[in-house]
Amino acid sequence: MDSSGSDADDLLSMLDRSADADVAGSWEMLSERYRLDGRTPVDSALTTQHVQGYAVARAPATFAATRAVMREIARRRPTWAPLSLLDIGAGLGTSAWAGVETFSSIRSVTLVERSAKMASFGAALLSESSLQPLREAQWKEADAFSQTLPSADLVCASYILGELDEDRVQDVVSRWWASCSGELVLLNPGTPRGFANIVIARTALLGLGARLTAPCPSEGACPMEDADWCHFAVRLQRTPNHRRMKDGSLGFEDEKFSYVVASRSEPQHPAGRLVRHPQVRSGHIRLSVCVDDSIREVVVGKARKAAFRWARNASWGDEVPAEVVAPGSLQDS
Ligand SMILES: C[S@@+](CC[C@H](N)C(=O)[O-])C[C@H]1O[C@@H](n2cnc3c(N)ncnc32)[C@H](O)[C@@H]1O
Repeated sequence: MDSSGSDADDLLSMLDRSADADVAGSWEMLSERYRLDGRTPVDSALTTQHVQGYAVARAPATFAATRAVMREIARRRPTWAPLSLLDIGAGLGTSAWAGVETFSSIRSVTLVERSAKMASFGAALLSESSLQPLREAQWKEADAFSQTLPSADLVCASYILGELDEDRVQDVVSRWWASCSGELVLLNPGTPRGFANIVIARTALLGLGARLTAPCPSEGACPMEDADWCHFAVRLQRTPNHRRMKDGSLGFEDEKFSYVVASRSEPQHPAGRLVRHPQVRSGHIRLSVCVDDSIREVVVGKARKAAFRWARNASWGDEVPAEVVAPGSLQDS
């Protein structure tokens, strides 16, 4: 993760210092729960060590993914200046952190979290931030699935839709949308199940008149709905305790995530979006691009100089310029 010169360095070192000697085993127990039903235990079953384990082993990755999405919103809406942020299912407040770091216009922050243990740990973290809106953030202990939430310009629900029964996603997301006056971020693990919930939410939001800021380049039915799942990845450096806890020799990990950003404003869509790593072959580069409500294969040969130059430096998740997906260059996948 690129954390150069930012308040994020402080957050990451605070998260890393959260571990005590026994925390690796507690994290193993908590991650087993996540593997079984994808849900954070309620407070009666959640221990301080679980929360520490989440801080060291998960929060850096959820922060990295949320920050990547916040930066994408800022790219797509360069003049947007939200004043308020609502973090739903806030956990340790890392989405709020990513939002305030990205949008310096934010003045007020509200975090809704069911677990008092998560909230008190998160409040202690935010109180150490150099960013005033984070230090002054309001925490509300509430059930975000059934209670009416305060409204905000930027509303973020990261890694929480999976804690909801699938048949409630549409209803709950509709209520979250009612609390949003600007952009609503829904972010899930980049798994088939995580993506399936994003598609349900996306369809519900479009039905309510929402527009889409990212990642979609168009607003018809999602072309990945049946066979595949749309997801992206962000690389983050593992901190020393994180590496120890995961018993991994790698100094980094790739966090995969699926997301949608719904908006109350007219979008400026890119021509397309790269939905896979580019495949570099001899003399040409193959791209999988979401464009015009379908997934198309684009083969860019050296003869198309500008497009080839772009494709050589392109990465999974990038927006694709119009000259690369010009008529005649597309094949069905
Ligand atoms: C996997 S964690 C994600 C935390 C944070 N958003 C992040 O990205 O790291 C899910 C969080 O949602 C909280 N949560 C689950 N159900 C909730 C509900 N009904 N209302 C409020 N919070 C809830 C859990 O306690 C947990 O802190």
